[in-house]
Amino acid sequence: MRTQYSSSTLTEECLERAGEALIPWFQKGEEVLDLEAYPLKKLAKEVAELSTALIKGKRGDYMGKYLRAYFSYFFPQGFLKTYFVLCEMRKILDLSWEENFKINDFGTGPGASLLAAKEVFSDLNPSLLGIEKNKKALELAGMLSGERILWGDFSKMTLQGEIALLVSSLSELRFPLKTAAKLWKNHRCLVVIEPGWAQGYSLIMNLAKRLGPPLLPCGGHRCKLGEGDWCHAALPFSLPPLTLRLNSLLRHKLKYLKFTYGVFCKNAKLKTWGIRLRSPLIKEKGKTYFLACWKGKPIRIEQRGKAKGGFLRANCCDIVEFEGEEISPAVFRVEDIKIKGL
Ligand SMILES: C[S@@+](CC[C@H](N)C(=O)[O-])C[C@H]1O[C@@H](n2cnc3c(N)ncnc32)[C@H](O)[C@@H]1O
Repeated sequence: MRTQYSSSTLTEECLERAGEALIPWFQKGEEVLDLEAYPLKKLAKEVAELSTALIKGKRGDYMGKYLRAYFSYFFPQGFLKTYFVLCEMRKILDLSWEENFKINDFGTGPGASLLAAKEVFSDLNPSLLGIEKNKKALELAGMLSGERILWGDFSKMTLQGEIALLVSSLSELRFPLKTAAKLWKNHRCLVVIEPGWAQGYSLIMNLAKRLGPPLLPCGGHRCKLGEGDWCHAALPFSLPPLTLRLNSLLRHKLKYLKFTYGVFCKNAKLKTWGIRLRSPLIKEKGKTYFLACWKGKPIRIEQRGKAKGGFLRANCCDIVEFEGEEISPAVFRVEDIKIKGL
């Protein structure tokens, strides 16, 4: 039986589906790793050490050392981000796929990105391949997904396919742009997702200088953000209970799933477009507004009076339309916004 979705926006629908699809995979991983029997405080300490190592770029063999911590805390986030981006790709881009088309997931880790792709494209029965250099992570990805996982350094491989997925793996390479350019030659689409940091944004923008502006999230427009400014998605999410417990033990205050992304495709068009929200609703100094992007140019959309209507329903990444006056350069004051896809 198909689930009925009450959500009305594209972003909400993709997030709702993602949260639902994650649960069985996460439960399976919890069982394989016997996480119920693992002391929670010890796990939280390992997540803290792993987060510090990732932020400082001192990665070493983090997958080998912290596989349980990675799975408990980062696997759900990797799955949700990938699901969201691929779901958007299917809904916004005019692309057709043959049955059994090839998706290669480069740096698959314990399989979050591979499983998200398996879910989003399940109706087309794609041929999935994960590539991973860490044997413990590779084994878990294989066990969870039942798919073929290739062991080795993907920057040294030449693989072909329709979609090349790189979720939090491109920035781990010594020469990320060189590898991305090689993958672009051998795939129709390149999907790059990185953490929502300035470095993630700058990696995708450097890629855009070589491949042209990404279709998603930018609609194929060149980004006109000023020097020192950067952009990322910030979406509400539903995480598994174990991840939430770790989050509160660590006092991480994870409120939004934050990430940067770029979807580059050859011979593809947009089915719909408009103004792209690039922040959740912001309330400060008596003003209620969204940061948004209009043909690559950063703008601000302020609500006249109290937040209502579309302002209360919209999420970061929604595509919207509005009518209103420009009260100062790039600042619009409006009665309401209309969310596309409603
Ligand atoms: C941060 S994890 C992301 C895993 C997964 N894509 C996700 O979204 O959860 C990055 C993974 O890429 C793998 N990796 C990094 N460089 C690699 C390379 N050159 N060849 C193969 N795997 C690589 C790492 O071992 C790690 O498992």
